Amino acid sequence: MTAAHSDAPSDAHSTARFPTTPESILPFVLEVMERTPDPRLRSLLVSLSQHLHQFVIDNQVTEKEFERAVAFLIGIGKATGETKNEVILAMDLFGVSTLVAMQNNPPGHDAESSTAGLLGPFWRDHAPVCQPGDSIVRSATPGIPMEVRGVVYGADGQPVANAKVDVWQASPVGLYENQDPGQADMNLRGLFTTDAQGRYFMRTVCPSGYPVPTDGPCGELLAAQLRHPNRPAHLHFMVSSPGHKVLITQVFADDDSNLTSDPVFGVTAPLVGHFVKHTDGDTTTAQLVQDFHLVPGEMVFPHPPIP
Ligand code: BEZ
Ligand code: FE
Repeated sequence: MTAAHSDAPSDAHSTARFPTTPESILPFVLEVMERTPDPRLRSLLVSLSQHLHQFVIDNQVTEKEFERAVAFLIGIGKATGETKNEVILAMDLFGVSTLVAMQNNPPGHDAESSTAGLLGPFWRDHAPVCQPGDSIVRSATPGIPMEVRGVVYGADGQPVANAKVDVWQASPVGLYENQDPGQADMNLRGLFTTDAQGRYFMRTVCPSGYPVPTDGPCGELLAAQLRHPNRPAHLHFMVSSPGHKVLITQVFADDDSNLTSDPVFGVTAPLVGHFVKHTDGDTTTAQLVQDFHLVPGEMVFPHPPIP
């Protein structure tokens, strides 16, 4: 280093080139973010930087709190694996997954289109192909036998033949098959195809409410907030047909006491189904009639949250 450099700060070392206050860091960050070539990525990164900095300043976030937040993020990454996706679960618990689903799936052109809902962490691709009337119960499963049927309508309001209706649900023991060695692989999962009249028909058991996984960082979060983990009983559906946007949705049992306190904020009024129960002597059965209305769009499937 020369004497000239050590005597006084050069222009390159003047305070104008460095942040001096908490608030003055952001412009330096934004200058870097603004250089991102992709315009959409640039705009997202600029906005994210602004929100993050504002959050830290508004809340006077301490070093300990920052460390805790980082530990939470590391924890949800580490807890994600073959049987669950804790990162998606975290997004669900903040209502972000429902927000993204709702924001990107406004009611369709005929105001009749089915409402989309969050995907959740438990959809698996390649569900077993089923014929009309097949049962998706693949190993001993408690619960009231249930028939589910309906019609898939297309963008033109006409029934859609050969639409795919992918369905998945938790066992009434409170676990999806991938979480439970006691269930057969792909238990309570199936892929149905609509007939020439757009109809699908399946057999299953009436779903029960179940807790979201609480054995990871998200469980700690719920406990710290005194929130219960129990989702109201529901069936998941993913309905697809070429030329239509893939419809990801859930249908909730109308008699569930947790409908208004879903920990992942997934229930909206149009998603509450009419589960009809019928008792004959000792036998109770249930029926659900659920139509789906698709909107025009690209048939793009999500990445499976678990393999
Ligand atoms: C589910 O319904 O599969 C689910 C959704 C969000 C979090 C956990 C589970
Ligand atoms: Fe579910």
